[in-house]
Amino acid sequence: MKDAAPQPTLLADYAPYPFTVTGVDLTFRLSPAATRVLSRVAFAPNPARPGRHDLRLDGERLALLSARIDGRAVTPAEDAAGLTVAADDLPEGPFTWEAEVEIDPVANTALEGLYMSGGMFCTQCEAEGFRKITFYPDRPDVMAPFKVRIESGLPVLLSNGNPTGAGKGWAEWTDPWPKPAYLFALVAGDLVAVRDGFTTRSGRKVDLAIWVRKGDEDRCAYAMDSLRRSMKWDEDAYGREYDLDVFNIVAVDDFNMGAMENKGLNIFNSKLVLASPETATDADFERIEGVIAHEYFHNWTGNRITCRDWFQLCLKEGLTVFRDQQFTSDMRSAPVKRIEDVLTLRARQFREDMGPLAHPVRPESYIEINNFYTATVYEKGAEVIGMLKRLVGDDGYRRALDLYFDRHDGEAATIEDWLKVFEDATGRDLGQFKRWYTDAGTPRLSVSEAWSPGKEGGTYTLTFHQKTPPTPGQDVKPARVIPIAVGLLNPNGDEVVPTGILEMTEVTQSFRWEGLATRPVPSILRGFSAPVVLDREVDAKERAFLLAHDTDPFNRWEAGRALAKDALARMICQAAEPSHALIDGLGAVLADDGLDPAFRALCLALPSEDDLAQTLHDAGAVPDPDRIHAERLRLEAAIARRLEPALERVYAAMATPGAFSPDAASAGRRALRLACLALLSRIDGGERAAVLFETAGNMTESAGALASLIAAGRAEGALAAFHDRWKGNRLVIDKWFALQPALCAPEAAAGVAERLSRHPDFDWKNPNRFRALLGGLSANHAGFHAASGASYRFCADWLLRLDPVNPQTAARMSTAFQSWARYDDGRKARVRAELDRILATPGLSRDLTEMAGRIRGADA
Ligand code: PHE
Ligand code: ZN
Repeated sequence: MKDAAPQPTLLADYAPYPFTVTGVDLTFRLSPAATRVLSRVAFAPNPARPGRHDLRLDGERLALLSARIDGRAVTPAEDAAGLTVAADDLPEGPFTWEAEVEIDPVANTALEGLYMSGGMFCTQCEAEGFRKITFYPDRPDVMAPFKVRIESGLPVLLSNGNPTGAGKGWAEWTDPWPKPAYLFALVAGDLVAVRDGFTTRSGRKVDLAIWVRKGDEDRCAYAMDSLRRSMKWDEDAYGREYDLDVFNIVAVDDFNMGAMENKGLNIFNSKLVLASPETATDADFERIEGVIAHEYFHNWTGNRITCRDWFQLCLKEGLTVFRDQQFTSDMRSAPVKRIEDVLTLRARQFREDMGPLAHPVRPESYIEINNFYTATVYEKGAEVIGMLKRLVGDDGYRRALDLYFDRHDGEAATIEDWLKVFEDATGRDLGQFKRWYTDAGTPRLSVSEAWSPGKEGGTYTLTFHQKTPPTPGQDVKPARVIPIAVGLLNPNGDEVVPTGILEMTEVTQSFRWEGLATRPVPSILRGFSAPVVLDREVDAKERAFLLAHDTDPFNRWEAGRALAKDALARMICQAAEPSHALIDGLGAVLADDGLDPAFRALCLALPSEDDLAQTLHDAGAVPDPDRIHAERLRLEAAIARRLEPALERVYAAMATPGAFSPDAASAGRRALRLACLALLSRIDGGERAAVLFETAGNMTESAGALASLIAAGRAEGALAAFHDRWKGNRLVIDKWFALQPALCAPEAAAGVAERLSRHPDFDWKNPNRFRALLGGLSANHAGFHAASGASYRFCADWLLRLDPVNPQTAARMSTAFQSWARYDDGRKARVRAELDRILATPGLSRDLTEMAGRIRGADA
């Protein structure tokens, strides 16, 4: 009934390509439904693969019009994945391959290869999209300089590298830096540029341009400012300079991911470029800054040094995420950024690591590589580098990075190469550390403590035990090296032992402090020094003490979070009343005007329902989504009632009158203001939110007020007004589609999503719009997991509808189902039925087949 199952690609099967490419010449004759691509590729035998080899080129959905080798026509053997020229038909030494193919950008709804978006031609080649443009060895270890000629009547014609010629109806670009095909890009359209410049520290003048559609120019200033700050920061922090005369960024509306680091020509999802105070929230501004930096930083970590194969994806992504996190901590508040990153890590990566989709930071097998652009590769990949830095110290890290850039510039490298530079630069053996790359799963760290008083002071001992639960395909988990940052506090709140890094290498290991005057209170895993779950029984008194006194801001926040989790777990499982200790602790933080407002806002937010479901599941209970939702609401109302005067005062005090500024301090004030509003709305029926919605002068407060109104069940008028005001603006209307299913009452969620899916603005082939609605629904924990299964069905229906159009986005959104094995038998049976229905659909993509199959395996 089904096609033969697609075969996995294995890391163990890696072999170098039998040829090197010494140059690529491309000519594009653009036409929406019939673009011609002429290629001339110079090949030479690869000394790393002696002997005679067939020439195998990747190619999908290409009409081959002609093929020549050294000017002589050849007829290669074609199949669905590419073509082969037999070794016997090839000259012995170097040779030139020439081909002409025809492709259809209009028909390309998968948004991979060359496609049309809003009348503009654009490309997306990572990971394996170049093979949809022409026949080529489409693998990252084949690097070559490219020359590109574009022929089109459109006014703006862009590609990688430097512009080297242009005339009426054509332009030519030359990229001197050897690159893999996945970094190729081309854009053609009726675009306008917002321009600026940057002079590198060695004096190179770089022309910067952000290309957008007419009318969008006035929303590019923040992206441009972020780009200039990123370029400067990479020089200061890593000694990395830019290496071309131009740097172009293009914003497109139809894009499967966030953005793409194509050499010299980054292509961005427009939501990560366009921002004004009226249309973008503070969170949008922060993401724009971070992603502009991320893509720019790839120029060195990804482009100049790329990946040998796609198993090494974390080599560029983990490192580049780590670098953009460092950048944001330098631009904004380091403790606040750390807390935000840990929240994301736990919400996305821990969830992945604890379910059927768990895989190592460096996977060893995949069916569809697009399914491995995951939180584990990106976010855990970054955490692993943070640990490495903690273990070797800042100087060791700097020396290792200098050596990395020196040794591997122009190469396609591996995780082994990466670890070797750290070993060579610091003299450390990283054999055990490598497990962080090869072993999936989140270690659980338990701790016990002992105190023995003595004449010359007492001895305090912490004993740690590590255990990593099995993950798919990996049953046994040997001990990893875990850097545990610990500080000790006196019972009066003074720090007696400042933060130090304990290096745990055994399954069970003790660490001792001697000569202490009194029994200390430990602050463990400061700054979240390792991506582990810390299991430690702590009484509410000690947690409240740490919330009030810990000198480490991350652990201070963490103490409040743990208090809240304990309190909620007791409310959910034992019908306990809301904890006054928790509420008073939060009240003290709220009222402490010496604390950064952004930090206070983070402390006020309760753990998410999904987080609580995972916590209950870990504790051996079966989470009940309705009960979790109800008790969390009850706690919020109790907090609001008890802290109402303080919330009211801070809400008023945190107003940001005057001209809008997206800076971190102002954003923090608005975050705290909206955190107060969200709580107050639990007891005022949305009264204050309605006032704010009427008067808000920026999108942060407007969307924040709207969110509170939806949650309070009185948003009808506001939603209509919001739609009416913003109906021409795609990015704002995405928010309108996301907020409703995410924040409405759980019992209404499936119906709300259903109704929105019939709205004329539900342009479901646009990935942002699709993600807004489906992502909004799955963010409503109790709504998505409604016992009726209505949301499950809705979601499966839409995945099946999107799959033939855009398999990559369909597969990505299927992760909504990944945690299904946590729940009760009734819900599980309903999810299983939907997954089976998906898997039984004829012609299902390789992308969705792999994802649904792995998720389905959860309970197999
Ligand atoms: N490489 C891009 C990034 O991390 C992500 C991406 C992957 C974009 C695949 C498109 C396709 O910045
Ligand atoms: Zn990246």
